[in-house]
Amino acid sequence: MPTLPLTLTRRSLLRGAAACGALPFLPAAAASSLQEFTLTPRRASAPLAGGQHPRTAVWAYNGTVPGPQIRARQGERIRIKVENALEVDTTLHCHGIRLPNAMDGVPHLTQAPIQPGTAFTYEFDLPDAGTYWYHPHLDSAEQVGRGLSGALIVEEREPIEVDRDVVWVLSDWRLEADAQISDDFKNMHDMSHNGRVGNTVTVNGEVRESFEVRAGERVRLRLINAANARIFALSFNGHRPTIIALDGQPVAPHEPEGGRVVLGPGMRADLVLDMTGKPGERHQVVDGFYRGLGYRLLDLAYAGTALREKPHSHPVVLPPNTMPEPDLGSAERHEVILNGGMMGQMMMGARGMGGGGMMAMMRGGRMWFINGVAAEGHTMRPMLTLARGRTCVLALSNETMWWHPMHLHGHSFRVVSRNGAATRQREWQDTVLLPPRERAEIAFVADNPGDWMFHCHVLEHQESGMMGVIRVA
Ligand code: C2O
Ligand code: CU
Repeated sequence: MPTLPLTLTRRSLLRGAAACGALPFLPAAAASSLQEFTLTPRRASAPLAGGQHPRTAVWAYNGTVPGPQIRARQGERIRIKVENALEVDTTLHCHGIRLPNAMDGVPHLTQAPIQPGTAFTYEFDLPDAGTYWYHPHLDSAEQVGRGLSGALIVEEREPIEVDRDVVWVLSDWRLEADAQISDDFKNMHDMSHNGRVGNTVTVNGEVRESFEVRAGERVRLRLINAANARIFALSFNGHRPTIIALDGQPVAPHEPEGGRVVLGPGMRADLVLDMTGKPGERHQVVDGFYRGLGYRLLDLAYAGTALREKPHSHPVVLPPNTMPEPDLGSAERHEVILNGGMMGQMMMGARGMGGGGMMAMMRGGRMWFINGVAAEGHTMRPMLTLARGRTCVLALSNETMWWHPMHLHGHSFRVVSRNGAATRQREWQDTVLLPPRERAEIAFVADNPGDWMFHCHVLEHQESGMMGVIRVA
């Protein structure tokens, strides 16, 4: 962890009562079932640190951080035109959506990069409701780290009963004292340890003092971890959030373990948060993931008057999405071993390699391995080829000293076991967070043909080797 808490402890500024949630970017023609959007990544500036700090130079979709919130409804088709106004190539990946391979936004693998001054149009159906997000898939550590990401919300056909539907895009920045983004992207230390963990956390692009609520209110809170590397463990002091979806996919409503909502990079959680406090109260939302480095994200600030006497008590259960159920009995099974990174002075997984060879690999930016291979770029021989329509179980084993949120494109999978024990929720995810030395089994029907990335969503790990291609043929 870097030790420069520039704004994590800055709490002097009192903010106005603006709603905590970017305005949704609604389609122009709301009546048709094809919804069209344009995203223009370009240089811009944003008041990330707030207060007396200068604005921060960023790269942003349509000039805002996060980018505009894209909203459409399950079953609709969306078309997103990306007009590249950056000085570098880019692509757009719609994280978590089960879309056709050619629309997946992986440079060289599924499309040519979008060059400066040119455009690419993505178009696909939205099979599943849920909380998703978009970001570039080219030089992601720098492009996401400079501000390119946004929420993509697919609404259920029948809206659920809540008073407000709120999105918090959680981002983490490494800012210098002048509030500018440190340009030490992809340095060897970040890449070989826990990635680029920053010093400033924003909610929807701002360091926030509070989120205004009313007693008795029921909020659906959609959390998106858009950080390069920071893992969040959020506690809502005085409140009991219920998780109703993970990575966009409905899950049996349950309280998070220990009351903490844990989200690795790339991951999402939908909460039902009942405002059980009293008018005028304040309650802290705290992130306590890194031991000894806890901080207050913001306060839930209750207005002086209640919305209703007693909060609702009926449960909110989301309708299921459309993933085929894996058939574990007939599954093909594959071992996936994650290795690499630093342990003390040594890089793990560089077996049988003298110190010189190890240093050369590290300088070449290859520090993390999936089944012994460190990826260089997005094109490579598939690590696995799966028969289309078959159930596949991947037995993942994290042999490193670090946490890895492992993300699979084009599919959602059930997390069926951890360290050999069945999971309680058999949750559908597209990103599974693996603690150091942990094993997990994931299962899915390989029903989406194409070459799909499977990688760590700590972007510095991804870019220094922890990435593979899974082919469904
Ligand atoms: Cu969110 Cu391969 O990415
Ligand atoms: Cu990782």
